[in-house]
Amino acid sequence: MKRFVIAITGASGVCYAKRLFDCLKSQAEVHVIISERGAELLNIELGLKPSDFKGENVILHKTTKINTSIASGSFHVDGMVIVPASMGTIGRVAAGVSGNLIERVADVMLKEKRKLIVVPREAPLSTIHLKNLLALDQAGALILPASPGFYQQQNTVEGLVDFVVARIIDQLGGDQDLMPPYKV
Ligand SMILES: Cc1cc2nc3c(=O)[nH]c(=O)nc-3n(C[C@H](O)[C@H](O)[C@H](O)COP(=O)(O)O)c2cc1C
Repeated sequence: MKRFVIAITGASGVCYAKRLFDCLKSQAEVHVIISERGAELLNIELGLKPSDFKGENVILHKTTKINTSIASGSFHVDGMVIVPASMGTIGRVAAGVSGNLIERVADVMLKEKRKLIVVPREAPLSTIHLKNLLALDQAGALILPASPGFYQQQNTVEGLVDFVVARIIDQLGGDQDLMPPYKV
């Protein structure tokens, strides 16, 4: 069974994380880390709390507790997604600040050359944001903006969320039937 980490930080768009979680929890061991601001956004945008992320193969971590399995490179993880990724977390990961579990696991993914997918949600982007995103890209992360396409004609909110989540799962190497490959 594959093992993935989903980190939810304090950017708008926690619906992407919830949908991703629901798709992965039946096919993988899923470790979930939610920052304090991420928990606030979960409540504001979806009326959910961290304890709502549960399942047979789900492990919910405390962001403040770094001394745990996924903080070590010796614990194999197939991929990590930071979704939504706040510019705060992006800046700290780009600077190598491993001050909480999210930042530490992201640091581990980069040093171990494992898959790290970063899903930023901010607009407009400052020079600092762009430099930090470039730094992450150059360190091996994949930047996958929460930026749905409108060409699949499923332009409901759910369809647009699925558009982004399908791209994330494809990049992670998981299974998804949310969005078929584009055909003319
Ligand atoms: C309602 C609300 C919406 C926010 N939306 C975003 C956002 O879309 N993108 C972003 O980068 N930061 C956003 N922020 C700011 C972050 O939450 C803030 O920078 C926070 O310190 C990030 O902390 P974290 O990275 O530990 O989750 C938002 C804050 C609030 C209160």
